Amino acid sequence: TNQIYFMSVEDQKVLELEQRKEKIYFGGGTKAIEKQKAMGKMTARERIIALLDEGSFHEYDMFVEHDGRDFGMQDKSLPGDGVIIGTGMICGQPIAIFAQDFTVAGGSLGFMHARKITKIMDYALNMRIPLIGINDSGGARIQEGVNALAGYGEIFFRNTLSSGVIPQISVILGPCAGGAVYSPALTDFVFVVDNISKMFITGPEVVKTVLGEVVTMEELGGARVHSEISGNAHFFAHSEYECFEQIKKLLTFIPWSNEAKAKPFPSKPPRPEYKIEKIIPSDPTQPYDVRDVIRAVADDSDFLEIQQEFAKNIVVGFGRIDGETIGFVANQPSVLAGVLDCDSSDKAGRFIRFCDAFNIPIVTFEDMPGYLPGVEQEYMGVIRHGAKVLYAYSEATVPKITVILRKAYGGGYIAMNSRHLKADFMFAWPTAEIAVMGPEGAANIIFKKEIMAAENPEEMRKIKVAEYREKFANPYVAASKGYIDSVIEPEETRKILKHSIEVSSNKSVLTPAKKHGIPPF
Ligand code: HXC
Repeated sequence: TNQIYFMSVEDQKVLELEQRKEKIYFGGGTKAIEKQKAMGKMTARERIIALLDEGSFHEYDMFVEHDGRDFGMQDKSLPGDGVIIGTGMICGQPIAIFAQDFTVAGGSLGFMHARKITKIMDYALNMRIPLIGINDSGGARIQEGVNALAGYGEIFFRNTLSSGVIPQISVILGPCAGGAVYSPALTDFVFVVDNISKMFITGPEVVKTVLGEVVTMEELGGARVHSEISGNAHFFAHSEYECFEQIKKLLTFIPWSNEAKAKPFPSKPPRPEYKIEKIIPSDPTQPYDVRDVIRAVADDSDFLEIQQEFAKNIVVGFGRIDGETIGFVANQPSVLAGVLDCDSSDKAGRFIRFCDAFNIPIVTFEDMPGYLPGVEQEYMGVIRHGAKVLYAYSEATVPKITVILRKAYGGGYIAMNSRHLKADFMFAWPTAEIAVMGPEGAANIIFKKEIMAAENPEEMRKIKVAEYREKFANPYVAASKGYIDSVIEPEETRKILKHSIEVSSNKSVLTPAKKHGIPPF
């Protein structure tokens, strides 16, 4: 008190500001912070500091209070209404961010909490900078009723408006329950952390009441569930720090908005241990890891894989060629022979659309026997899901380059960015086999009578399979029609890709005027 008495009026005002800020920095108080720490979680403020460039964070709406009037809320103070918003820098580039503070009313979303989030979303869109949302919340604030639901609606609307204009990143660092899940689902990349992220529409209590089933939060929507099974998450980390490193790395590959290109990096050769000519086994039935092909052409063999543990029969992610960001899409022969099925079609379709929206050239490596057959896939809608790949490739107007490594059969040949979907460049390795279907299946159908009539049907089948393979399972029939621009040696691939990207840098395509297409959602 004495100290204040001797202070100037200005200094007293500054002191008051500091005291007010300090109270807010304390969020939901010591007990709630201790609980947060006991769960292995950082506080919202610590997360922002750990993710952003040092000293770059500027906070807004710090003094906002909640607007609840019922259930005793009018007498409660919720510092910042449970969410921190602001702008800052990551790797020297500007971003907008919000982080929900679970220590304040469980990070639940009330009217003012939502108003803060929508304010920063509007800034991000107007400034054309990426938006990062750190989610740690019990969902709609139950005491605020329809006002909380209104808040979610306003957020979803803005997620949709910003889609394809600025990159939107969601980080799930705690519960993301009820309505909260749909904002991440509308964004471009979802990051989860083992044992910390919990994402579900209805929690264990509701599942028990409605279905009588007993499940844990982890089983319902833990980080592994969404990385491996549901496909809702794109990046999985073991700790919050690892997760922040992944976000920073992703941001180096993507542009800040759809009006910009990704920042170029100095060109670097691939690492010598990736020998492109040694990757494909000489036996055409043997699998290999297609990521080695990507690493053998990418600068410094650096490849940032997206949805690494989901639908592993297709590989998608970012790398660079000659310093420029490339979106790689590749069939993975070591998983289900690299077929397209419902999940891999969703994964590829969405990634292609991201690349197209954000000016990132797409390189496709093809080696696959077609779409996955069977009752299960048909019932799950492989027709509808598979169509997403056709739609995404056809719609994309960024430079599109395909290299057929080995198998390109049937629907797969068409779907994986063929000339007929308007690939700009089509290359094939000498090992390519381009045909309506695999030699085994084809011979069984078209030589059925000869095989059955033969003295030794099995021997005859082998002869006919070899005959078919010799005639059609090569790149030269397609090359003779101009469907393939060039048959190239594996060692030439990086050089040819680099040139194809260089000559496509001014690509301009006229498409018919329309409000928007209707992709097979
Ligand atoms: C108000 C909430 C809240 C909520 C949590 N809290 N969720 N307050 N509304 N939705 C408060 C708690 O009362 C508690 O306050 C503090 O946050 C911490 O919560 P705990 O339960 O103690 O924490 P924990 O044990 O870690 O459990 C976290 C939780 C659980 C799993 C998230 O709180 C929970 O199940 N919450 C409800 C989740 C849910 O069903 N949300 C859906 C809402 S409806 P005190 O004061 O005690 O510290 C919805 C529909 C929108 O979202 C649809 C839009 C399309």
